Amino acid sequence: MSRQTAASHRHGEMRNLLAISDLGPDIAAGIEEVMTLTDSFVEVSERAIPKVPALRGRTVVSLFFEDSTRTRLSFETAAKRLSADTMNFSVGTSSVKKGESLRDTIETIEAMGVDAIVVRHASAGVPRQIAQWASSAVINAGDGWHEHPTQALLDCYTIREHLGDMRGRRIAIVGDIKHSRVARSNIAAFTALGADVTVVAPPTLLPPSLEGWPVKVSHDLDAILPELDVCYLLRMQRERMNEALIPSLREYTALFGLTDERADRLGDHTLIMHPGPMNRGVEIAAEVAERPNAVIIDQVRNGVAVRMAVLFLLLGSGTAWGGELDG
Ligand code: NCD
Repeated sequence: MSRQTAASHRHGEMRNLLAISDLGPDIAAGIEEVMTLTDSFVEVSERAIPKVPALRGRTVVSLFFEDSTRTRLSFETAAKRLSADTMNFSVGTSSVKKGESLRDTIETIEAMGVDAIVVRHASAGVPRQIAQWASSAVINAGDGWHEHPTQALLDCYTIREHLGDMRGRRIAIVGDIKHSRVARSNIAAFTALGADVTVVAPPTLLPPSLEGWPVKVSHDLDAILPELDVCYLLRMQRERMNEALIPSLREYTALFGLTDERADRLGDHTLIMHPGPMNRGVEIAAEVAERPNAVIIDQVRNGVAVRMAVLFLLLGSGTAWGGELDG
């Protein structure tokens, strides 16, 4: 399918991006479409003036109820490179602090005439609830333990950039699976593309049931290290742990941290990935993040182009620019 046809086909279908399953009945095809469009936006990002008029006149608002550095800046940069207007809603200084309800907040934002709402919230399901109220496109930038679809897309793009086809690739996702929306979205996306995914964690950091998860489970990182194509580390989610799920961070690192010694046992081609923010010295040794096969900064860089692709797919049709990328 050509780029334009693919994009117009998608416009008809995807109204929101709340979960990986929103990419369509054929998730792999949906991801491929985002990847192809991302290639074009990577090219735009490398220009002297990395900006195209694709979303001129459109407004994207970010509504972050939870802290963020990279996701928020990444969406904002993506929107600006597409010439959209951006609005930033800081919950901490808004009327939410005066007790305004979520519904009233959304109604107020929509009355200003916005086209997309990028939302992050500590509770799973909030973006879907907002999508039911709002007529704008809603993009989930992370909801509780549930999903973080644009993170998964940028991770797919980064793996594809370095290793090519995902089919048959052996990927370990290591750490706090239980509290991780990144793990949930990545498992859905990686397995849809044919990767072989193993979750590696102590039993207390796994969800109570893994029924229906298309993954293998391991409690032994050392045993699988040499076979991996990707070693994906998750941040220990200290803010989401109400119980003592591990004896201590030191013990966690001893068994599940990617230390220098463990990183030495990875293949030369094996990618080391992390969504950030890293707890250096906990899930990843400080120096390991600087190794040549650590692609953590590539993940951040690719995040902008991937989010440009997502915004363009959701909002790009019907603009004066007509969806052409070479304007
Ligand atoms: C992640 C998040 O907030 O879900 N960060 C991110 O978006 N890059 C991962 C995390 O906080 O551990």
